[in-house]
Amino acid sequence: MSPVYQIAIDGPAASGKSTTARGVAQALGIRYLDTGAMYRAFMLRLLEAGADYGREEGVAPWLEQHGISLDWDEEGTQRVYLSGEDVSGKIRENRISTTMGPVCAMPSVRETMVRLQRRIGSEGSCVIDGRDIGTVVFPDALFKFFLVASSRERARRRQLELEERGQAADLEQLVRELEERDRRDRERSAGPLRQAEDARLLDTGGLTIRQQIQAIVDVVRERLRAEET
Ligand code: DC
Repeated sequence: MSPVYQIAIDGPAASGKSTTARGVAQALGIRYLDTGAMYRAFMLRLLEAGADYGREEGVAPWLEQHGISLDWDEEGTQRVYLSGEDVSGKIRENRISTTMGPVCAMPSVRETMVRLQRRIGSEGSCVIDGRDIGTVVFPDALFKFFLVASSRERARRRQLELEERGQAADLEQLVRELEERDRRDRERSAGPLRQAEDARLLDTGGLTIRQQIQAIVDVVRERLRAEET
C-alpha cells in the first residue's frame, strides 16, 4: 500500500464534517486539511481588496496572487494565512459565509483551490473535508465518506455552536439559510456537492461526534491492518 493515503469527508454545511475530520486526524496521527477554510480565506482577500467579486473577471487578478498558505500547530490545528497574516479567526465571520456562495461556484476559483488542495493533500496522509473531495479533488482517495443529517438537526447544531459563542439565533432562519446553502452547493456546475459512488454514507443524525469519529476510524484501521498483513 502507498504510505500516503487520503480520507475524503464530504457533506453539506453543518453536517459535522470539520469536527469529525479533526477528531479522525487526531486519532490516526495525521493532518486535517480544511478546504472550506481555503475558500473562506480567498473570500476574505476579495472583501479586503474591495474586488468586484460578482464577476469572474473581477476575481481573476486575485487568483493569480491569492497569498493563501497553511500550517499546523502542535495539536494539529490548521492555521490559515493570507500573505503571512494569520486569518484563521477572521475567516469565520458571518459576512464571509453569507457572501461566498457565488465565488465558490466560479470554475476558475475552484481550479485554483483544487490545485492547491491536491498539492498540500499529497504531502502526507491526511483527512480532507469539503464538498467535492471524493469526486474532484481526490477521486482516488483510499477512503471516502459522505456525511448527512436533516437540515433541522444541522440547524440545531449550528444554533448550539452560536449560543456557545454568546450569539442568539432563530432556528427557523438557520434551517432556511442551511437549505439555501445546500441548494447552491448542489446546483453549481463546477465541483457540486455530491456523494461519490464509492463513498460510504454516514447519517450523523442520531450519532454523537465521538461516535461519528469512531465509525470512520474503525473503517480506516481495519483496512490499514488488512493491507499490512
Ligand atoms: O465548510 P465551510 O462552511 O467552511 O465552507 C465554506 C464555503 O466554502 C461553503 O460555502 C462551501 C464552500 N466550499 C466549497 O465550495 N468546496 C469545498 N471543498 C469546501 C467548501
